Amino acid sequence: MEKRAELYAGKAKSVYLTDDPDLLILEFRDDTSAFDGEKMEKLARKGTVNNYFNVFIMGKLAEAGIPVHVEKLLLDNQVLVKKLDMMPVECVVRNIAAGSICRRLGVEEGLDLNPPTYELFLKNDALHDPMINESHVETFGWAKPEHLVRMKELTFQVNDVLKKLFADAGMLLVDYKLEFGLFHGDVVLGDEFSPDGCRLWDAASREKLDKDRFRQGLGGVVEAYEEVARRLGMKLPE
Ligand code: ADP
Ligand code: TMP
Ligand code: ASP
Repeated sequence: MEKRAELYAGKAKSVYLTDDPDLLILEFRDDTSAFDGEKMEKLARKGTVNNYFNVFIMGKLAEAGIPVHVEKLLLDNQVLVKKLDMMPVECVVRNIAAGSICRRLGVEEGLDLNPPTYELFLKNDALHDPMINESHVETFGWAKPEHLVRMKELTFQVNDVLKKLFADAGMLLVDYKLEFGLFHGDVVLGDEFSPDGCRLWDAASREKLDKDRFRQGLGGVVEAYEEVARRLGMKLPE
């Protein structure tokens, strides 16, 4: 399968049509953004690492029965996916407090959240991805109520699978963001699962191994992502 016309260029990935109307190619670039695109840098190898990471994680989720868009790895920085009708809603689960919940609610980073929180954000950089609730989603038609129910159910299933996967590799899944779309009427997990869209800490030292290294200028960003991949037993290209 080869790339045809570019459909969309996002902050970190480019989306291409293919000869099959049901399939797209996602190209993972080295571009790295934070604060809704306000901070941007190219980090060598990040596209490849995240592409492999995403295929690996989505494979684990598919094995657990979660519907995912990934079809197959094409090239180091390209993956073939189902073409989804994306819903502009970001679903976030937090197991441990970090990031925006600390700023919004004045809680200390590192607090265990039991049960985990579930939050929705509108995917809109110009508005800085504001937090929204189910009523907003219904009123503005961003997703149908029955799809929202399914998104929540799938987002928590992902937590069950991935908390254990990372724990077994000595890491804490602090939080993560998922994006869903519709494929012939069914809710399917789209976009990516990578250290760009989640927080991962070393279980013992609580060292950050995710995009917070970039957001906070800690350095060693791609090295940390590769360390996570190594601990998961993934094989990355040289
Ligand atoms: P952003 O739009 O946040 O800058 P990216 O750079 O990651 O994000 O761009 C990828 C775009 O592709 C996102 O808008 C995402 O919603 C969309 N997308 C991801 N997976 C699919 C899919 N399977 N079908 C259609 N669009 C998708
Ligand atoms: P937050 O603490 O900034 O609200 O983010 C929570 C988690 O979701 C964190 O792992 C980053 C991820 N996330 C994104 O990747 N993109 C987004 O637009 C948002 C709102 C969150
Ligand atoms: N969606 C955000 C961005 O790329 C994620 C972040 O703030 O880190 O800017």
